[in-house]
Amino acid sequence: MIIGGSASQKLAALIAKELGETLCPLETRKFPDGERYIRIAGEIESEAVVVQSTGYPQDQNLLELFLIIKTLKSLEVEDIKVVIPYFGYGRQEKRFKSGEAISAKVIAELLEASGASEIYSINLHEDGLCELFNIPAHNLSAMPLIAEYIGENLKDPVIVAPDKGALEFASEIGDMLGCDCDHLEKTRLSPEKVETKTKNLDVKDREAVIIDDIISTGGTIVNASRILRQHGASNITVACVHPVLVEDALLKIFANGADDVIATDTLQSDVNTISVAPLIADFIK
Ligand code: R5P
Repeated sequence: MIIGGSASQKLAALIAKELGETLCPLETRKFPDGERYIRIAGEIESEAVVVQSTGYPQDQNLLELFLIIKTLKSLEVEDIKVVIPYFGYGRQEKRFKSGEAISAKVIAELLEASGASEIYSINLHEDGLCELFNIPAHNLSAMPLIAEYIGENLKDPVIVAPDKGALEFASEIGDMLGCDCDHLEKTRLSPEKVETKTKNLDVKDREAVIIDDIISTGGTIVNASRILRQHGASNITVACVHPVLVEDALLKIFANGADDVIATDTLQSDVNTISVAPLIADFIK
């Protein structure tokens, strides 16, 4: 049985289709005082795949996920595979300052305590997040799907990472397509402000693809787009795995020189160009 939480309804349906399984109906609503209600309204089977991203509203999506898993467990479902395409709180995987909650660890423990048997996620912000679990946890990469899309739609582009941290993604895609790749240098001045400087890129009159794992406020991408435009890129495509896209991030990205924005459907957004459903379904199979 495949169950889609309210944050991942379409993706759950696509995964069910890929696996040739039926999608289990799930009733979710809010009581007048704001508390959540969920009911698994389909036939219960011994194995379940639950799909729920835990992006905004993170706490609500997480609680819904815990309620689904715990309910399945109490209905004697033995094997509960939990797919969290975008893993919220994944950026707090350690204590950076004394007294901080290690939120990712707390969530990992709560998922296990709820009854999850196995965890699947896509391009976790830190690969080490898998080690927070005592149950099998898998970090899948959507980069081959993004590379395939770029290969089919653009001719010999330059793949650009907006910072050194994203260079591994640009290199992975560059290697797959046999394209040039490089990175920009980024300095974060404040949570909202980022300064970007070029490396030795030659993007003049070339199509460029900026690749990152997450686009949140869009600050990183806006700066990278401006730099590439200044260096004469003829066309800029922005690609990411997780389109968090806070507030007017998408508008800012287009207004600052991007011609197209593509992303996977780990989070529901206006730019879900590529589905991770085949990747997840193949791995679960
Ligand atoms: C940072 O480590 C990530 O890879 C992204 O570069 C970052 O989350 C993007 O954030 P924003 O869109 O707010 O600049």
